[in-house]
Amino acid sequence: MANLAEGADMLAAVLFVLGIMLLRKPATARAGNGLAALGMAIALAFGVLAIPLHHTLMIAIVFAAAAAAGAVVARIVKMTAMPQLVALFNGMGGGAAALVALVVMLHATGTGGRLPALIAIPGFFTLLIGSVSFAGSLVAFAKLQEWLSGRPLLFRGQHLLNLVVLLAALAAGLAALAGLAPAPPLAALVAGLAVLLGFLFVLPVGGADMPVIISFLNSLTGLAAAATGFVLSSDLLIVAGALVGASGTILTLIMSRAMHRSLFSALFAGFGQVQAGAGRLDGAMHATSADEVATLLAYSRRVVIVPGYGMAVARAQLEVKDLADRLIERGVDVRFGIHPVAGRMPGHMNVLLAEANVPYDRLYEMERINPEFARTDVVLVIGANDVTNPAARTNPGSPIYGMPVLEVDQAAAIVVLKRSMATGFAGVDNPLFLMDKTLMLFGDARESVAALVQELREAV
Ligand code: TAP
Repeated sequence: MANLAEGADMLAAVLFVLGIMLLRKPATARAGNGLAALGMAIALAFGVLAIPLHHTLMIAIVFAAAAAAGAVVARIVKMTAMPQLVALFNGMGGGAAALVALVVMLHATGTGGRLPALIAIPGFFTLLIGSVSFAGSLVAFAKLQEWLSGRPLLFRGQHLLNLVVLLAALAAGLAALAGLAPAPPLAALVAGLAVLLGFLFVLPVGGADMPVIISFLNSLTGLAAAATGFVLSSDLLIVAGALVGASGTILTLIMSRAMHRSLFSALFAGFGQVQAGAGRLDGAMHATSADEVATLLAYSRRVVIVPGYGMAVARAQLEVKDLADRLIERGVDVRFGIHPVAGRMPGHMNVLLAEANVPYDRLYEMERINPEFARTDVVLVIGANDVTNPAARTNPGSPIYGMPVLEVDQAAAIVVLKRSMATGFAGVDNPLFLMDKTLMLFGDARESVAALVQELREAV
């Protein structure tokens, strides 16, 4: 039986690795997800078999309740709420790892409240980072759900307070390790301080830096799970946690590179902080109509479509594909400009456009499309805001100054589809909307794009 369990662990680990490899390409991503899920099912099945029989009923009840809740949530959650759901799942992972470590440590505490070092070291490590990830992910969830403002919540001495809380948590862990005081109360203290640290750490992060912090929290949860593997002597948990930790770390680095931010400044500087000189916006807004935009598009040679979070909210991707097809039929060169943090999760726009069967070779990443805007007749900005804000390049007083953006303002004409003049996630005004060559087509993006398709159809 032990050999069988070891074989199953090995198989599950191989399936996880293969799953991640297949996730790298959109065409194989679904199969990758399926393989990884199969690995998880095998791991769970053999994990349950290893548990003493008298716990079976309790485990079966928890399994059934959790699986039912997961299935219901997965079915009813809207695509736009997916990032929040992922943040919540991530927090649950960190919290679960911390709780497991806490329980094992309480059980292993010997007379005099001392813990064996082999359990205490990974145990306190898990407790610390698992709890930080739990609390931080809850704040990220609240920000994504817009229960908390996307603006950074800053106060004086915040970084110093974070450092003091972190040092206090480390000191409590070391005290337990050295046997200076009984382990259980120190473990509770570490958990409490780490939860406080998680809240304090993520609250100051501004809207524009949320992508970096979300992937960072993801890597923390992976590391916490891997450390739990050492606490429980589970090779599979170590492998699975290390995979999540490593991929989360790579994603964090990719995200911070995409935002031209050092990891340190993204995590600690409170990007999005309003600075003196942000200034008022000059210019007048020019509202337009679907027939005017359709005419403009029909007589263009090059059009770039820039989708953003609003396209996801409006679920306009099918209409957008339809619009692109109509223009291509008329001989217009149509490309899609994709910002790495458009939307609310990594690859958000790619997923939506793939769902609508937009060919991948029409999708241009920011570095490739930016030089093209100066030769573009019309840019159609569909529910995007922060990722097109020229103030990020031109106004050192702007809260998002330094963030790389799609340089749509270089095009001959810009049409922005959104419902109002409201700001985007970072809460920053966008001077693009008041430029002379910008036209605003107000309304729900799906309805506006459908109206454009209709106008083009009638124009044939
Ligand atoms: P945003 O700057 O958030 O702007 C989206 C715009 O869509 C809003 O201004 C909104 O204006 C419009 N909109 C909403 N619903 C709409 C609808 N039904 N029809 C038409 N327009 C609609 O989005 P973005 O440009 O994609 O930038 C993403 C932002 O989120 C960045 O600040 C980024 O840092 C942050 N963020 C990204 C991620 C990842 S990983 N991608 C994660 C967390 C945060 P109206 O209300 O006027 O319509």
